Amino acid sequence: MAHQTFLEKFETSVNDDWSFSENRSTDNLSHGYHRYPAKFVPQLVKKLIETYTVEGDKIVDVFAGCGTTLVESKVHGRRSEGVDINPVAQLITRAKINALDPEVLKIQYSELQSLIEKYDHRKPLNKARHARIDYWFRHWEKKKISFLYETILTLRDEQFRDFFLCALSNILKNCSRWLQTSTKPQIDPNKTIHEPFTSFASQVNRMTKKNKQFYDELVKNNAINIECEIKLADARATKIRSSSANAIITSPPYVTSYEYADIHQLTGYWFEYISDITSFRRNFIGTFFSNNKKTESSVPIAKEIIDQLTPISKKSAGEVANYFKDMFSVSKEMHRILKPGGVVCLVVGNTTMKGVKIQSAEAFAQMLSMQGLEIESVIKRKIPFKLIPTIRDEKTGKFTTLNSINKKLVYPEEFIIIARKKY
Ligand SMILES: C[S@@+](CC[C@H](N)C(=O)[O-])C[C@H]1O[C@@H](n2cnc3c(N)ncnc32)[C@H](O)[C@@H]1O
Repeated sequence: MAHQTFLEKFETSVNDDWSFSENRSTDNLSHGYHRYPAKFVPQLVKKLIETYTVEGDKIVDVFAGCGTTLVESKVHGRRSEGVDINPVAQLITRAKINALDPEVLKIQYSELQSLIEKYDHRKPLNKARHARIDYWFRHWEKKKISFLYETILTLRDEQFRDFFLCALSNILKNCSRWLQTSTKPQIDPNKTIHEPFTSFASQVNRMTKKNKQFYDELVKNNAINIECEIKLADARATKIRSSSANAIITSPPYVTSYEYADIHQLTGYWFEYISDITSFRRNFIGTFFSNNKKTESSVPIAKEIIDQLTPISKKSAGEVANYFKDMFSVSKEMHRILKPGGVVCLVVGNTTMKGVKIQSAEAFAQMLSMQGLEIESVIKRKIPFKLIPTIRDEKTGKFTTLNSINKKLVYPEEFIIIARKKY
């Protein structure tokens, strides 16, 4: 008889308490500063914090992304630390976790505006830019963005610099030739390209309002100075202190999902995080960069998936094996970071690859259990709204639009695995 899976053990019918279909707002406080694929809904993190942690606890996110866990931890008066491999994620998170004094922000912005007003289109560019910038940007926008970037860099205070760089980063797509509706790198020859100075001003205005909301909330909660840190590091080797976290609230990249490195290339080129995209991609998990020729896994469900995939595509089997190998290291790292009694809350969805179901939720439950954590519960939630394409073409397996005929839902629901380190 087949072994009972964790998902079978914890009756996993959809729990509507975790769907948040009533309150879908995702841009309160600093949460809406910057678009970011597959980010948490803040309500989910809030509920996890309120259910599984108490004041004074420390919360970690090993795939911090744009910092949802860290922002919510701060609001709730919990200390927090996050890592992400993506320098763009690090910049956005730094901007989002530091609430700025609204009065000082007003002064800083008006000083910045007076510098921006000095723009002279006849002056040549100060500095050569990455060659790929000419592929994505027209000459006029390029000059203005370059001026904005250099002007922001003259600000002395790092937190204000981060705030304005985050604003600039978020308008780059609108000011480029990148197809607006696509997360994949694709030129739109007919695009109406936004004017950089106006876009920047409205982005800063939006963020300024949200900053005030965030600042007031932190003041009210006496949480302005709560310890909260984001580092550029690999989830497989974070350097976070051993046995230091009461909770890890995280959501890993999907095996077949976004190429985070590609999506953030505009900011990457402008802010000089990328010199060559291939080496930039290398350490992102789930980006199909694979130097693993082996197709094996010690995780039972991962082994099953790999065995099903191997006759269909050896390459895909290798990619999946590589993904679970990486994630096994991450689960080991999470065990190391957790205090005895601490809890992992891991949010993950299943997907399909070449017609084979990739049961990531079960695989993560097995991996955490193999590290010695006890699976306390598995919550299944509907995803009423998520910043990922939810449709795959049944024939090609590629993401497609909602009105395609060959549509098939992926990630319509996801799982929250709650695993505890007993000792
Ligand atoms: C699903 S997203 C997390 C989103 C996050 N929960 C939020 O609310 O923004 C997964 C993240 O994993 C990051 N990532 C990929 N490989 C990584 C690695 N080796 N170490 C750390 N982070 C990595 C990606 O850059 C991405 O930000």
